[in-house]
Amino acid sequence: MNHEVISPYLCPLCRQLLIAKERVYQCNAGHSFDVAKAGYVNLLPVHFKNSSVPGDNKAMLVARRAFLEADYYAPMAQSIALLLTNELSHHHQTIKILDIGCGEGYYDRVLKQGIQSDQSVEWHGVDIAKLAITAAAKKLPSVRYCVASNHALPYQEAYFDVLLRIFAPSNEIELKRVLRPQGKLLIVTPGPKHLAQLKAFVYKEVRDHAENISLPDGFNARHVERISYQISPSQQQRSALLQMTPFAWKINKAQQEELLAVEQLIIDVDFIITLADYEEI
Ligand SMILES: C[S@@+](CC[C@H](N)C(=O)[O-])C[C@H]1O[C@@H](n2cnc3c(N)ncnc32)[C@H](O)[C@@H]1O
Ligand SMILES: [Zn+2]
Repeated sequence: MNHEVISPYLCPLCRQLLIAKERVYQCNAGHSFDVAKAGYVNLLPVHFKNSSVPGDNKAMLVARRAFLEADYYAPMAQSIALLLTNELSHHHQTIKILDIGCGEGYYDRVLKQGIQSDQSVEWHGVDIAKLAITAAAKKLPSVRYCVASNHALPYQEAYFDVLLRIFAPSNEIELKRVLRPQGKLLIVTPGPKHLAQLKAFVYKEVRDHAENISLPDGFNARHVERISYQISPSQQQRSALLQMTPFAWKINKAQQEELLAVEQLIIDVDFIITLADYEEI
């Protein structure tokens, strides 16, 4: 039997709806995109790539997974789960959530378990890094993962109830296009003291991150929460943490050796969680 189902996706080449067929998505113009063995779909046309391997590279991906899976950031993820559980308790139909710049899917795994809801949740994740999406899809086949750029999200207008943007870049026009009116945008950004002791190995003068984030027009912050605590990662985990941050590009060999030589290093982690309503129609 040949099943054909309208999908949430738009063709990245001509922006028409993609129809889901047996392990392939097709538009009416005949563009077609296979579902990969791992279960995700690649909707990033080659000519949209600004490098041959866009987004995080393999070393960053491996480091991020090693560090996050040790659950140092779990208290922040649990706060998001609680917040979304409360927000979504009045929902009357399937809740559609998209994790933008989802990386290798750590937060999808934690949040999918942590959010309690009477409604079913249709969970999506998108990232420009194919390796990250492959890893995410293998770990969590129930999430619909796709490779695409945040600057041209391959989803229908107003499709999602909730967008998550956790330490990831985004494009505000695209956020507003795929989020339904009254939908929610949840952003996690570094708080003022985030990783201050790690930064001290890299920069002569450590500057705090700004505490306030600016939201795109049309969004109203409904809840802002700062979560800060300290962690004391092992030398190996410290190295993984370094690799997953932009400091990895800045640090020189001597500084890196210094960082890893310290027996114990207590590091501040500091997050700002912002939940905003999309008011504009
Ligand atoms: C700092 S990582 C955060 C990953 C994940 N949200 C987390 O916190 O573990 C930023 C992610 O954004 C992705 N990214 C960078 N530019 C992107 C773009 N233009 N479109 C989609 N994803 C992008 C990277 O590949 C990377 O996975
Ligand atoms: Zn097309």
